[in-house]
Amino acid sequence: MTGCGGSSGWRQRADVVVIGTGVAGLAAALAAHRRGGKVVLLSKAAETATFYAQGGIAVVLPRTEDSVDAHVSDTLAAGGGLCDADAVRSIVTGGYQAVSELVAAGAHFDESAPGQWALTREGGHTRRRIIHSGGDATGAEVQRALDVAASSLDIRRNHVALDLILDDGAVAGVHVLSDDGFGAVYAPSVILATGGLGHLYSATTNPDGSTGDGVALAMWAGLSVADLEFIQFHPTMLYSGSGGGRRPLITEALRGEGAKLVDAQGRSVTAGVHPMGDLAPRDVVAAAVEARLSETGDECVYLDARHIADFARRFPTVNASCLDAGIDPVRRPIPVVPGAHYSCGGVVTDVHGRTAVPGLFAAGEVARTGMHGANRLASNSLLEGLVVGGRSGAAAAEFAAATGPARLVEPAPAVRPALPRAELQAAMTRHASVVRDGDGLARLAELIDTAPPRVLKSRKDFEDAALTAVASVVASAAAARTESRGCHHRSDHPLTDPAQAVSVAAGLAPATVGC
Ligand code: SIN
Repeated sequence: MTGCGGSSGWRQRADVVVIGTGVAGLAAALAAHRRGGKVVLLSKAAETATFYAQGGIAVVLPRTEDSVDAHVSDTLAAGGGLCDADAVRSIVTGGYQAVSELVAAGAHFDESAPGQWALTREGGHTRRRIIHSGGDATGAEVQRALDVAASSLDIRRNHVALDLILDDGAVAGVHVLSDDGFGAVYAPSVILATGGLGHLYSATTNPDGSTGDGVALAMWAGLSVADLEFIQFHPTMLYSGSGGGRRPLITEALRGEGAKLVDAQGRSVTAGVHPMGDLAPRDVVAAAVEARLSETGDECVYLDARHIADFARRFPTVNASCLDAGIDPVRRPIPVVPGAHYSCGGVVTDVHGRTAVPGLFAAGEVARTGMHGANRLASNSLLEGLVVGGRSGAAAAEFAAATGPARLVEPAPAVRPALPRAELQAAMTRHASVVRDGDGLARLAELIDTAPPRVLKSRKDFEDAALTAVASVVASAAAARTESRGCHHRSDHPLTDPAQAVSVAAGLAPATVGC
């Protein structure tokens, strides 16, 4: 990367800029680097959502009773009619190769016998097909292996991507705020791998940096997004009082090993709700928990995992989180509530991460490939991040080689509407959580419309503006979808409407549809 100086701050050049250093970002960066691209990674935060992933990676292993057809069919069933079947098949088919490359990069997965990976189950899966590491520390191992593999790459920490720089409709770089002040990294290819948006809500399983950055950057660049009304609430986030921010996840793999969801009276939460009971898809279980809480007025339900043998060894992360909160999961059921966990929608891309803006790619949670539809199947997220991350890195390097260096276009100063974060989170939590209705969504939209313009001079300013932009699209998409489907439950429209079995593109400005 070459320093270029310049009156509006520092300037650098690269072939490929990757924003984000979780599974998708690092897989993308490594693939672009292997193709000879000069790669710069921008990272604003120390923690990634990848690190916190517990359950594992859903992958079809050769020479097992599992099949690509079965994994595709489970994914489509969970997705509530909105998955793109071709995208699902493509990503599922790419899984084993991508996991093998991860293993070649040094990742280790738990074994049930020498040379044989241990497989677990989670909600919506009809087979045991989830590989895991360190019991319930899969994400930490994936992150560790990719961090080591990418250690020689140019990773810029504390660099906030404020805006995309466009030149004649194509991407030309990223406007950045770093410890050295404002600057720009110019490149013909940019990959958004910024993760999710859980901090739209007061409490979430996501790390601090999950503020919808990539979705906002894409929308500010005029791109369309889709399926943002489908925000997945994980049924079992640890309940330890009403505190906000990141809260520990209690992995679904516990239910895969037989843990039961019960209310304070010991009654099953999911009995009679779905044939798969506690292992129904996540949207079904979260809605069942929410219904039981509103029926009983209780603050939480309980996950009874007391019978699981060797708990602390199989689930060390959950065990430590519970003990930190003063709960011994071997002696008493774990108090849980649904928590904002994953965005099923995002920036519209194909299965190589390509968006409608030439040179701009997106991969991982920020992207909407069509893999997840209205509700993501458990442990399909690391899979998608690995597969589409790697493909987007390759495609971005090829695009950069074919296009040549970007022109040094001056970035515009960033001024965006931004609400105070706590006010926005409270309104999102009240009106756009597991269950919504038209009146609440209208009140949410009215509040968002009052957001005053803010000059983006800090990471916090940028994140508040990103959250405000993303919230406005979540609110309008959720209001427009007058039915219940997947993660989107409308108390005023409780039924699924076959006429609405389509993804609807949305955006802030006149949007470009497709990719
Ligand atoms: C979990 O371990 O329950 C979460 C896995 C996922 O989000 O897919």
